[in-house]
Amino acid sequence: MYAITGITGKVGGALARTLLAAGQPVRAVVRDGGKAGAWAEQGCEVALAEMEDAGALAAAFKDTDGVFVLPPSEFDPAPGFLEARAVIAAVTKALEEAHPRRIVCLSTIGAQATEINLLTQRTLMEQALSALKLPVTFLRPAWFMENFAWDVVSARDHGIIASFLQPLDKPVPMVATADIGRIAARLIQEDRRGSNVVELEAARRITPNQAAETFARILGRPVHAEAVPRETWEGLFESQGMKHPKPRIRMLDGFNEGWIEFERGEAGSTKGEVALETVLCGLIEGTA
Ligand SMILES: NC(=O)c1ccc[n+]([C@@H]2O[C@H](COP(=O)([O-])OP(=O)(O)OC[C@H]3O[C@@H](n4cnc5c(N)ncnc54)[C@H](OP(=O)(O)O)[C@@H]3O)[C@@H](O)[C@H]2O)c1
Repeated sequence: MYAITGITGKVGGALARTLLAAGQPVRAVVRDGGKAGAWAEQGCEVALAEMEDAGALAAAFKDTDGVFVLPPSEFDPAPGFLEARAVIAAVTKALEEAHPRRIVCLSTIGAQATEINLLTQRTLMEQALSALKLPVTFLRPAWFMENFAWDVVSARDHGIIASFLQPLDKPVPMVATADIGRIAARLIQEDRRGSNVVELEAARRITPNQAAETFARILGRPVHAEAVPRETWEGLFESQGMKHPKPRIRMLDGFNEGWIEFERGEAGSTKGEVALETVLCGLIEGTA
């Protein structure tokens, strides 16, 4: 039995579909029972748990061969990363109690960076889970290709994608969530000892200019990338309601300055199969 948190999201959903297609038993761990129906219909067990609730998570993780931990995203974290620390405390306690055979935890490119930034939330998770006496694999994916969902309307209606990734001709490691789910499915079925790291990106790195060209090809209209000036980010994020934009800004700096990178570099990463064009076609169809 494999317990999957985040199953109603992109990565957890892709992982669960891969396991189910291979005939493996899946326990859908959801916080909202109203979203469990589609998974129950496909034969999944259902467990209700918030990622901050150690007791409910321990019950959800009991009697499993593998647990997939998907830490919720928090783009506007309170100083000291309190939201992430609450999840880390609950997940750690639950795993200690349930003692699954294996753990796969979704982490991120750059989790090893020492500079404080948004991804420090995953550094803290990796530190806590590595200290458990259980086999754990941290799957560190690149920038999600699905992040371009934010650009579909602007590309289609105005021919512009506004880019925080800069300069516009700098190749960025990216990956499709379908590839992450597929690799997570392999890892959660593999016996490994101690704590491991697997870094994952697409076959080729992609510049913002190339992403704009891909949009243009699919949409059949000119599309170009425009860099959002660095000095406007703080005011922009605050105008969008963020209270603590600094960690997000430092994360973007990290990608742009190159200190958010895979620990083993491009040569050492596992490569995905899904191309940006496939992901963008899906995003554009979903917005039509
Ligand atoms: N975007 C990137 O470029 C990138 C790169 C590397 C790593 N990551 C990591 O990828 C993860 C996000 O994956 P995703 O895109 O698949 O997420 P997603 O599609 O946004 O889905 C999030 C999932 O987590 C569940 N969830 C959120 N908060 C929860 C809580 N408090 N308790 C229980 N469940 C909760 C959601 O449930 P509901 O359906 O009930 O909301 C949903 O199933 C994050 O850990 C992020 O750090 C992202």
